[in-house]
Amino acid sequence: MVRAVLLTDVGAPLQITEIDLPEPGPGRVRVKLAAAGVCHSDLSLSNGVLRPTTPTVLGHEGAGTVVSVGEGVSSVRPGDRVVLNWAPACGHCHLCGLGEPWLCENQYAATTEPYAALPDGTALYPGLGAAAFAEETVVHENAVVPLPEGVDLASAALLGCAVLTGYGAVHNAARLRTGESAVVFGLGGVGLALLQSLRIAGAAPIIAVDVSPEKEELARRHGATDFLLSDEQTPKAVRRLTGGHGADHAFECVGRGSTIRAAWSSTRRGGRTTVVGIGGKDDPVAFSALEVFHFARTLSGCCYGNSVPAKDIPVLAEHVRAGRLDLESLITDRITLDQVPAAFERMAAGHGGRSLVVFEP
Ligand code: APR
Ligand code: ZN
Repeated sequence: MVRAVLLTDVGAPLQITEIDLPEPGPGRVRVKLAAAGVCHSDLSLSNGVLRPTTPTVLGHEGAGTVVSVGEGVSSVRPGDRVVLNWAPACGHCHLCGLGEPWLCENQYAATTEPYAALPDGTALYPGLGAAAFAEETVVHENAVVPLPEGVDLASAALLGCAVLTGYGAVHNAARLRTGESAVVFGLGGVGLALLQSLRIAGAAPIIAVDVSPEKEELARRHGATDFLLSDEQTPKAVRRLTGGHGADHAFECVGRGSTIRAAWSSTRRGGRTTVVGIGGKDDPVAFSALEVFHFARTLSGCCYGNSVPAKDIPVLAEHVRAGRLDLESLITDRITLDQVPAAFERMAAGHGGRSLVVFEP
């Protein structure tokens, strides 16, 4: 039995409960979590913006130690330190074949397969395949990435979602060049990690936007040169800070139609907006036909930072070791499993950076 954060149904209060976790079957790996970050996508799964298969154990940004492996597992062994990958690629679908494994057609396959059970036998599904808000989890072999030496295991949890996503948005999706200007909407764990990635890429200026004034200090610590409180005037204010042109790049890390639109309007003619946030299906974004032509801007989605985790996590680990990427300052609250519901409330109210569930060693 292990303790876990359970969502019985969309909209229901979270429960902290014991679950029955089986030994890993063929191709599966059992991981003892060191830590798991609280990401907005978990909140979106619990409130119905995203639709999980329920009952589900939430949490998808995790790192830990391999406890045991099932038959046929060859890439990791008990004792290995790993980061969880919540969108593992199958390697053989059409989009994997095109070299875009972050769009793998089977990346959510694990979310619809029962992986554990309640003590009464009710089948449980792993939230985003990872089920990281639990003392231990069982995942597919391709959902674990070995963590290089020299990086603290608990804070490495953030490499599994916020940092991979933010860094990948800048380097893989937007392909930002040194000296280009950037504006970031939404300064949670993802937006703050993205600010650090802009600093690494040498963007200038780096403009940070949020509705919550308390994010200014955090934003500047993570690389922002300017901070704006989000309102209808934000695109105009961004133009003022970029010589009257608008930013070369905008990044949306909120997940709303209105902020996607504001991000797009904040870019220069020919600028690029990379949408990182995950919004709802009933939240449209509108453009006039004329402005699409006139501004000649690019609006692009970005899934998991367009990353290949097995390749990109070692790169991120090297940035951490070299002191360029600061995981510690992204973590503003260290909590227990029982405090996840309170962390959801803090996040919904726009407080803090990342909350990190830290498990007993
Ligand atoms: N304008 C600017 N910022 C806003 C606005 C707005 N209109 N509304 C909310 N925000 C800010 C919040 O104040 C908060 O600082 O967006 C930030 C979102 O941060 P978190 O809730 O911590 O979310 P995070 O985990 O960083 O995820 C961001 O990426 O992966 C997706 O599903 C995830 O859509 C979510 C996004
Ligand atoms: Zn996430």
